[in-house]
Order: sequence, then C-alpha cells, then structure tokens
Amino acid sequence: MIVRSVRVGHFRNLVSQTIQLSSGINLFVGGNGQGKTNFLEAIYFQSTLRSFRSARLRDLIQHGSENAEVESGVDSEGVPIRLRVFIDGQVRRLWLGGKAVRSAGEYLGLLRAVAFTPDDLAMVKGAPSLRRRFLDRAAFLFQASHLDDVRDFQTALRARNRLLQDASGRSSDVELESFTETLAACGARVSTNRSRLLQRLESSVASILNRISEGRLEARIRFEPGWRMGEGTDLEGETRSLACQMESKLRRDRKRGSTSIGPQLDDFEVLLSGDSVRRLASQGQQRAVAVALMLSVVEEIVSSGGESPVILLDDVSSELELRRRERLFELVSEFGSQVLVTSTELDLLGALADDASARFQIESGRILPIGG
Ligand SMILES: Nc1ncnc2c1ncn2[C@@H]1O[C@H](COP(=O)(O)OP(=O)(O)O)[C@@H](O)[C@H]1O
Ligand SMILES: [Mg+2]
Repeated sequence: MIVRSVRVGHFRNLVSQTIQLSSGINLFVGGNGQGKTNFLEAIYFQSTLRSFRSARLRDLIQHGSENAEVESGVDSEGVPIRLRVFIDGQVRRLWLGGKAVRSAGEYLGLLRAVAFTPDDLAMVKGAPSLRRRFLDRAAFLFQASHLDDVRDFQTALRARNRLLQDASGRSSDVELESFTETLAACGARVSTNRSRLLQRLESSVASILNRISEGRLEARIRFEPGWRMGEGTDLEGETRSLACQMESKLRRDRKRGSTSIGPQLDDFEVLLSGDSVRRLASQGQQRAVAVALMLSVVEEIVSSGGESPVILLDDVSSELELRRRERLFELVSEFGSQVLVTSTELDLLGALADDASARFQIESGRILPIGG
C-alpha cells in the first residue's frame, strides 16, 4: 500500500499544500511544534477517519477556518484510488475517486496505516486503555468493522450507565434490558476480536522481540478479558454469556451507577520467560515489547499475503536507545513497506536516514523537500 501524494487543506497548523511521497522511506525533520505529528495525523485520519490523539473532529480544523480536508492518491494492490475527506464543523464527508460515499464502511480499509508514537512506547506499563487502543487499532487492520463494533459498544455502554445512574430509579427494566442486549452483542464481538488478534500476534511478537533484544526470551501474551469468556465458544454463546453476567451484576451496578464487567475492562499482559513485563521488566525492555507488538501487526498482515500497511513512526527515535532503534529501523526496512518517520534530528535516525528515498523539512506547517 503506497500513498503517492497527500493534499492537506486547513488541517491543524499545516499550510495548505500537496506533498509527493516516495514509495520507500520518507523522513520528516523539524523542531518541536512545527507540524510533524500533524502531518502523520492527517494521513492516519485519511486511513481510519479518526485521529490518533483527539476524539473531536473540530480539533483538526485549522483555527480560524470553517473546515478542513485531506485528499490522497493511493496505490492499493497496484490500483490507484483517490480518497478525500472533508470536515465541515462536526460532520465529515467522504469521496472515493471523485464520487461521494455515503457509508464509512465503503471507505474504511482502502488505505491501511499503522501509527506508532511515543505514547505507544508506554503501552506496556501504562493504563489499560492504551493497550485496548492498540488492540482496537490492530484489529481494525484485519477487520475494518471492528471499530464500528467498538463505537457501538461504547455508545450502548454510556447509555446503560446513564440509566444506572438514574437516582430516581425510574429507568425501566425493559429499557435497561434492551441496552444490555446491544451491549452484550457488540461487546462479545469486541472481546472476541481482541482475543483472536492476540493469538495471531503471539508468535510474531516472540520472534521480533528476540531480534530487537539481547538474549533469548520466551514471550507469551495473555489476554485478560473484563468478563468471563468461554474458550472456543461461538459468538452467540459468548453474547448470551455476557448478557447473563451483566444481569447477575445488575443490583451492584445500580448501586455503583456503572457497568462493572465487560470489554471496557479488557486488558492483556506480555510475559517474558514467565514474568510479567509490566511488573518486572526494565523500561528499555518494556519499550522493546511495545515495538515488537506494533511490528508484529505489520508482519502478520504481510505474512498472511496482505499488502503492507503504511507505517507512520512519530518521533520514536528519541525515546529508544541506540541499539533497539537500529533494530527497529532494520526490521521496518525489511518489510519493504512505505514508511513515514519524523524526528527532530536527522542524526537520530542512523542508517534509516541513509536508506531514505525522500527527506522533508517541516517548518511552521510548511513541508519542503530537502536536497531536491
Ligand atoms: N487546529 C489547529 N489549528 C492551528 N494550529 C494547530 C491546531 N492544532 C494544533 N495546532 C498547532 O500545531 C502545532 C503542533 O504541531 P505538531 O504536529 O504537534 O508539532 P511537532 O512537529 O512537534 O510534532 C502547535 O503549534 C499547535 O498550536
Ligand atoms: Mg510531534
């Protein structure tokens, strides 16, 4: 998957312009606050219709503008397509090849990108929400409908929690039951997708980790669902089971005013030779595990015959020690994927800078090729 060109209009601090990208490694260098993350965010948004750092669409619109847009020329399995998103206040409109598209379902999945930021490096030790975010973004790459399930689940969860908080106790059981049903159906899908994803990634994570760390480590991943999941049960069975579990907690949930079990509490743990990475490993090892998780997603897509997603690496070089950074870049180069990498200093990128086929300078939102 290759993004040939990107046109941004009134997106964050970026000067409205069109950038031609190389199919190999693209470097973006610039000081803090110049717009490096914003540019990667524009491409990530083009891919997923979501930002990797803000829940609100209007944050993406340039201050003082009414709307923003991103348009990309993409080669997907060798077929050129044009994707365009226009953000008008709260609403977004989509076009494919110049034709307006009604549903996001037709659009999502055409441009696939993985983003990796310093926040993600903290994923192993950080709050469980970071790990769920990783799972959901990764699951989306294998199944575009996953993010819809997550969104529907969250909407139903908020609605159910509002009813539970209704102190007057007037919220009818019938109403509550209907939300529980929706919640159980979406929730069982969400947790099942997450669980299957981790099973898929486990062996890649282990082999990548052995390449970026010194010494041999036996890596395992343990999914820790926020409810009692069956093993190998069908989705219908899981749905019924989740609904039952929620109902059995109803009295307690009413008391606390929120839903106490479900995918909103899903988590996972990486074990190195049986020990929890979260609890025992050094910060360097934890970051290596985060890198391995991210790369395993790309490897799994590529090895199952899929087209490599575009890899967006935002400013991670400054947070990784030299040797791990070099191994990361080595692996990324091996995938043969299109890579967009940002850094405050060219020096931090080591060999990756030598392999780069395009370099850009970003200053005050203006992106300019360096050296022709
Ligand atoms: N909606 C917006 N409109 C205009 N400027 C914005 C908007 N959102 C963020 N910015 C500006 O973008 C800059 C940060 O850009 P960023 O891409 O995060 O920089 P960096 O190069 O450090 O990654 C800040 O100066 C911030 O004020
Ligand atoms: Mg940044």
